[in-house]
Amino acid sequence: MLNAPVYIIGAGGIVNTAHLPAYAIAGYNVQGIYDIDANKAKATASKFSLPHVFGSIAEMLAHAPANAVFDVAVPGAQTIPVLQQLPEGASVLLQKPMGENYNEAKQILALSKRRKMQVAINFQLRYAPYILAAKELIRQGRLGTLNDIEINVNVYTPWHLWNFLMASPRVEILYHSIHYIDLIRNLLGNPQTVYAKTTKHPAMPELASVRSNIIMDYGEMVRANILTNHCHNYGEPKQQSYIKIEGSKGAVIINFGALINYPRGAADSFEYILSEDDGAPQWRTMQIEGSWFPHAFIGSMEQVLMAAAGIISKPDNAAEDCIDTMACLEAAYISSAQGGIRPDLL
Ligand SMILES: NC(=O)c1ccc[n+]([C@@H]2O[C@H](COP(=O)([O-])OP(=O)(O)OC[C@H]3O[C@@H](n4cnc5c(N)ncnc54)[C@H](O)[C@@H]3O)[C@@H](O)[C@H]2O)c1
Repeated sequence: MLNAPVYIIGAGGIVNTAHLPAYAIAGYNVQGIYDIDANKAKATASKFSLPHVFGSIAEMLAHAPANAVFDVAVPGAQTIPVLQQLPEGASVLLQKPMGENYNEAKQILALSKRRKMQVAINFQLRYAPYILAAKELIRQGRLGTLNDIEINVNVYTPWHLWNFLMASPRVEILYHSIHYIDLIRNLLGNPQTVYAKTTKHPAMPELASVRSNIIMDYGEMVRANILTNHCHNYGEPKQQSYIKIEGSKGAVIINFGALINYPRGAADSFEYILSEDDGAPQWRTMQIEGSWFPHAFIGSMEQVLMAAAGIISKPDNAAEDCIDTMACLEAAYISSAQGGIRPDLL
């Protein structure tokens, strides 16, 4: 039974729209919440019938029992200061990204080791219901050996909704493609190298790069590409966002709707084809219950609760694993800054 008491730090957008709705579905035991903005904490507690609202982290810690799990969802720059206040040995789920860059990710990992904490990172796309369905086909061997993953996003994202992004030196890969980097690592392991080009857009010159092409290099036989354009401001009909996974015996195409016509979204679809089928294999559709938001958030917390209960030794999304997602992110930015091969110099 995954009933360790959960204490939430941060009562902002993502906690209200994803964490708490997901935990309500899963029946997790959320005991209380703290936010530097007391009104937000109170409003969130009342909306989700949480028993306790705390006026400070110290007050929360005085209430939390030894088996408490802390769920931290504060702006990136606040993550390390909050983590430093949590008790030695604590179980913690930290919102992604894992710091603002690889250096901060290393600080988070070092801090968690020094304080013997079980820290996991909320890279939750790994646990989206459609990804779990694809993983089940992979686990059963029905896709064969994977040799091609493509994530292709062509949408219009209203970045101006997030004020803090205007001052951020990194936008698209750090806040968005990082989910896809993490997913590809989760499916294929660590790449040998990473190539990338991330590009600004003339309609939003005040922002850092908002479109990216990332190649995760797994050698000669495996292709893993991420292509994102968040600036397709030409209406909904040609917006698209899919994850394609191909193996030697079958393929899956997930059209995920979360980003289409944002924030309204569109329906997801899960299509697959298996060469094991009799006769000429046909594309088929699988109905999947739930979506990325909020259902994937069940899985990232489930890992922390299972580790806290001793059912698994470490969360699958432990900081020790997610540090490699941050290394790939850093490699992508470095690759983009270094640039490609100049044909005019050959
Ligand atoms: N996993 C995802 O897909 C996903 C999606 C959106 C946001 N996020 C991440 O979640 C985090 C929060 O994002 P958001 O959209 O909810 O932002 P938000 O601005 O809506 O909420 C952040 C909240 O944290 C509070 N806060 C700030 N400093 C604090 C501190 N020291 N102690 C306690 N509370 C503090 C703020 O008052 C605010 O209520 C960010 O790190 C963001 O990158 C992740």
